[in-house]
Amino acid sequence: MGTSKARRGAIKRDGKAGRPVLSQYLYISTAPTLARDEVEAILATSARNNPARGITGLLLYNGRNFLQLIEGEEEDLVALMLKITEDPRHSGITLLDRRSIDERTCPDWAMKRVLIAESIANRREMLDAELPVGLAPELRKMIMNFAVLN
Ligand SMILES: Cc1cc2nc3c(=O)[nH]c(=O)nc-3n(C[C@H](O)[C@H](O)[C@H](O)COP(=O)(O)O)c2cc1C
Repeated sequence: MGTSKARRGAIKRDGKAGRPVLSQYLYISTAPTLARDEVEAILATSARNNPARGITGLLLYNGRNFLQLIEGEEEDLVALMLKITEDPRHSGITLLDRRSIDERTCPDWAMKRVLIAESIANRREMLDAELPVGLAPELRKMIMNFAVLN
C-alpha cells in the first residue's frame, strides 16, 4: 500500500516513527432504491481507485442505508468524501466519526463488502467475527447497531 503515493512524493511523514499520518472516517447515507448490481459497481470502482490513493476500508449496505469506513491520508480522504458526497446514488451523508489512527484497521481491504446476515439471531455474532480486530470499540458498537436496525 502506498508505493504509488510515495512516487508522487505526497506522503507526510510526521506520524509515529516517520510513518504517514492516517485518518479514519465513518459515515452513513441513504439509498433506498439502489439495485443490487449498483452496490457491486461501487465496490468495483473502489477496488480500481482506492489502492493508488492508499485508501482502505469497508462498506455495509442494508437495503436502505450505507455505512462506510474509509481510512488513509487526510487529504485523500477529504477528496474521496467530496466525490462520495456528490454521488447521486445516495444522499443524506452523515459523518458519525472522524479520528486519527496510528495504524490501519483494514490494511488488506481496498474496500471490503461486509454482509449483514439475514437471520437477526446470528447477525451480531457473524458481524462481530467479520469486523476487523483493530477496530476501536466505539466504532465496532456503532457498526453493530447499524446492522441490527432493520
Ligand atoms: C456508498 C458509496 C461508497 C463509495 N466508495 C468509494 C470508494 O471507496 N472509492 C471510490 O473510488 N469511489 C467510491 N464511491 C464512488 C464515488 O462516489 C465516485 O463515483 C467514484 O469514485 C468515481 O470514480 P471514477 O472517477 O473512477 O469514475 C462510492 C460511492 C458510494 C455511493
